[in-house]
Amino acid sequence: MNSAGAKNHYAEELSRLFTNNRRWAAELMARDLQFFERLTHQQAPEFLWIGCSDSRVPANEIIGLAPGEVFVHRNVANLVLHSDMNCLSVLQYAVEVLKVRHIIVTGHYGCGGVRTALDAQSRGLISNWLRPIREIAEQQRGELAHLTPGEREDRLCELNVIHQVANVANTTFVQDAWMRGQAFAVHGLIYGIADGCLRDLGVSVSENGGIQAEMLGL
Ligand code: CO
Repeated sequence: MNSAGAKNHYAEELSRLFTNNRRWAAELMARDLQFFERLTHQQAPEFLWIGCSDSRVPANEIIGLAPGEVFVHRNVANLVLHSDMNCLSVLQYAVEVLKVRHIIVTGHYGCGGVRTALDAQSRGLISNWLRPIREIAEQQRGELAHLTPGEREDRLCELNVIHQVANVANTTFVQDAWMRGQAFAVHGLIYGIADGCLRDLGVSVSENGGIQAEMLGL
């Protein structure tokens, strides 16, 4: 295929997205004529979602929220690292400007990132990114050793979420906001790709106190 042909081919593949988009916008407007106009004035979401980039875990759809209702940050394996300016900026904006009521860290079973972290073979940059999960696996060696490989992977998906909840709770601006009396909670959830269900890991935090992952039921 020459380059003009290839260009048309790609444009054709993309055209489905524009068709979908116009239909979606028209459906929303049919239900609520001012929907988009209202959104231009402000966004006031109550929720910040921190989840995995996995295409099977789309934030808005899973929790049934419309545009404007959830602020979203996604990366491979839903990590909250104190050196990640991207994630920290999202978190700071959500807490200080949007003043969300809930920060939801959502992992999912069958996470390729978690599986790769357990893999002994190095995969370049992504292995560096996933290193914190490997460290969690090493810390929790005792608990994980008794499990079958499948159970081990599932449990590590959960443990990873719990650690990221602690990381959110320990960021300076989350601590400062709680200190100022701002009311919001941090939650850890896990999503099952196989059944479409979200589950609460029961590790919610809503106040200061030097939160350690170990205190969250590990
Ligand atoms: Co994943």
